[in-house]
Amino acid sequence: MDCGQQYPIDRIIYVCESCGGLLDVCHDFEAVPVSRETFDARLGSWEKPYTSGVWRYKELVYPGIPDEKIISRPEGNTPLYHVPALAGWAGVQTLYLKHEGENPTGSFKDRGMTGGLTQANILGVRRVACASTGNTSASLAAYAALGGFEGIVFFQNKQVALGKLAQAVAYGATCIQVNADFDRNMELVREAADRLGIYVLNSINPFRLEGQKTIIFETLQQLRWQVPDWIVCPGGNLGNSSAFGKALRELYDLGLIARLPRLAIIQAEGANPLYKSFRRGLNGLEPVHAETIATAIKIGSPVNYAKAVRALRWTDGVVEQVSDQEIMDAKALIDRRGIGCEPASACSLAGTAKLVRQGIIRPHETVVGILTGHILKDPEATIHYHSRQLDGIEAHYPNALLSAEPSIEAISHLLQAPRGEPSS
Ligand code: F0G
Repeated sequence: MDCGQQYPIDRIIYVCESCGGLLDVCHDFEAVPVSRETFDARLGSWEKPYTSGVWRYKELVYPGIPDEKIISRPEGNTPLYHVPALAGWAGVQTLYLKHEGENPTGSFKDRGMTGGLTQANILGVRRVACASTGNTSASLAAYAALGGFEGIVFFQNKQVALGKLAQAVAYGATCIQVNADFDRNMELVREAADRLGIYVLNSINPFRLEGQKTIIFETLQQLRWQVPDWIVCPGGNLGNSSAFGKALRELYDLGLIARLPRLAIIQAEGANPLYKSFRRGLNGLEPVHAETIATAIKIGSPVNYAKAVRALRWTDGVVEQVSDQEIMDAKALIDRRGIGCEPASACSLAGTAKLVRQGIIRPHETVVGILTGHILKDPEATIHYHSRQLDGIEAHYPNALLSAEPSIEAISHLLQAPRGEPSS
């Protein structure tokens, strides 16, 4: 992406050999005509691979690939929730939440994994690996099992949400707990790849990002190709933000959308290297030591920094940070609507509200917030919030678990007491 050097698509390579920069998958779109009508006609299709909300946009993801090579659950086709009550709380007229936690393994990673595992299939490799805060490993483990690959996952030593750990173990991946944080694990997996010939499926792999572009394609299709003013998403390793920038740019260049929305990337205060860089004018990355209750985004040295900067420049984007308190309160509100998400996802709502308060998002604007992970991924965070067991975090929207003796009097007494209403 920096120096323009090109490599054939079947080379196993993660960064440019001449400048060390990140790699982009480049398509020759002139050779493959695309139109909104083609994608609209595939909605509801029973034909593989078009049952997938990734491969419906095959021409924009991996044109020309033989269908039998594609490894797909299928994934995508996630709901776009219209949430007027949460819009009111955040202070905007129109808010949608695109729930990527409603993918097969409960996170947006499935869209990337179908891209990455399909490329692994084409390359003929058999061992695939990632470092992970949890969701990537759950997704890799599931897709590796589906395609008959050996999946290998490197977990940080602590703070992996239980749901994610359970998935990777259950799907049969080789799971290694390494006594280090995510950032060190990321370095290790890259070293192991070179030394042991294992194919890396973190978001440094550009084929992953091609799959994740479809979050944007599908959102726009669900909005009948009407462009919202803002897309708001959490930022960790910055793969999603990078994919969103590329997706929007391609749609715009191909004439499939009339203008570009602005991208807002939201980081946790305790894991905010992009936010800090943004405040300094995006003049480079200074890694931080990461700590946050949103363990999915507990990342201090994001590998996709340069691509996220590019996405911000293309979309006149902004970066904001939110506290763990704001994250958990926003999560409680999303949960209380019956939708639910894991903590990191709630950055989208908390960040929207903060940007509205600052006058950056204006009240009449239309916002799409991306929810990245399912509520069941991290049940401990949810239960501890509602039972007021989180250090330094107050439950502003609690739903205390009640208990009663097994008598109708005790139950009647409980149910006669007035219950608090959700305040949004
Ligand atoms: N939300 C959730 C639920 C995630 O799992 C992640 C990343 C993000 C947001 C941030 O996305 O990295 O593209 O900026 N999880 C990775 C993992 C790092 O290993 O599962 P990003």
